[in-house]
Amino acid sequence: MPSSKKITTRYLRDMKQRGEKICALTAYDYTFARLADDLDVELILVGDSLGMTVLGYDTTIPVTLEQSLHHTAAVARGVERGMVIGDMPFLTCHVSPERALMNAGRYLQEAGADGVKIEGGERMAPVVERLTRAGIPVLGHIGILPQSVLARGGYYVQGRTKEESEALEADTKALEDAGAFALVLEGIPVERSRELTESISIPTIGIGAGPHCDGQVQVIHDILGLFEKFVPKHARQYAQLAKETRNAINAYRNDVKTCVFPAEENSFK
Ligand code: KIV
Repeated sequence: MPSSKKITTRYLRDMKQRGEKICALTAYDYTFARLADDLDVELILVGDSLGMTVLGYDTTIPVTLEQSLHHTAAVARGVERGMVIGDMPFLTCHVSPERALMNAGRYLQEAGADGVKIEGGERMAPVVERLTRAGIPVLGHIGILPQSVLARGGYYVQGRTKEESEALEADTKALEDAGAFALVLEGIPVERSRELTESISIPTIGIGAGPHCDGQVQVIHDILGLFEKFVPKHARQYAQLAKETRNAINAYRNDVKTCVFPAEENSFK
């Protein structure tokens, strides 16, 4: 039975303590946000995956602050219970902690979000600290960092070598100390994410990081079978909506061409 209680950072931390898994999902518009919220998804992320799923870019890098705010506001209008998190796009929190603070504040004041997500580990800790000191809940994000795809030369699983594992440990600790309320672990081997999850008191939300995380996040287009360019290894398709949509559009087109639509019941007297 869905509860009507608004999800908060404290609620998510209590879920970790109770061993109750957190369900997170991306949404980019009012309609899907409402559906996810009705079904008790605790955390609704307006990911910068928006760039690929909705805006047609090849990476997340072209997504702007204005585009992200626009979609976050639409999502927030559809959500009553879940925590709505806006994903701060490329370079919006890198110039200075002060600039990051002003940009992040817009998610809460203009878009109606409940917090923001920031990509990057230890090096972003001063920004996370500045935002949390100002009262902005921050979701950290380590492992594969899609905004660094050009610098890293691709999307590579992180934490397979000793150096990478040590870097992830340092990132995890730095972000927890800086006040992040939870961490996204993306593309990290199962055992590594188990160790990271057990090492901190804040929840971890995995994507391609195995079953031991405190919760899971997926891109809604992936689980609905809406994104046809590729299916990531970490995703499971629970529906084939691209196929269904094609069938529906095709049926509509045929009805228009053969004058079967509109029928009498679709017309006014
Ligand atoms: O942009 C996004 O959707 C994300 C999630 C996949 C974590 O960052």
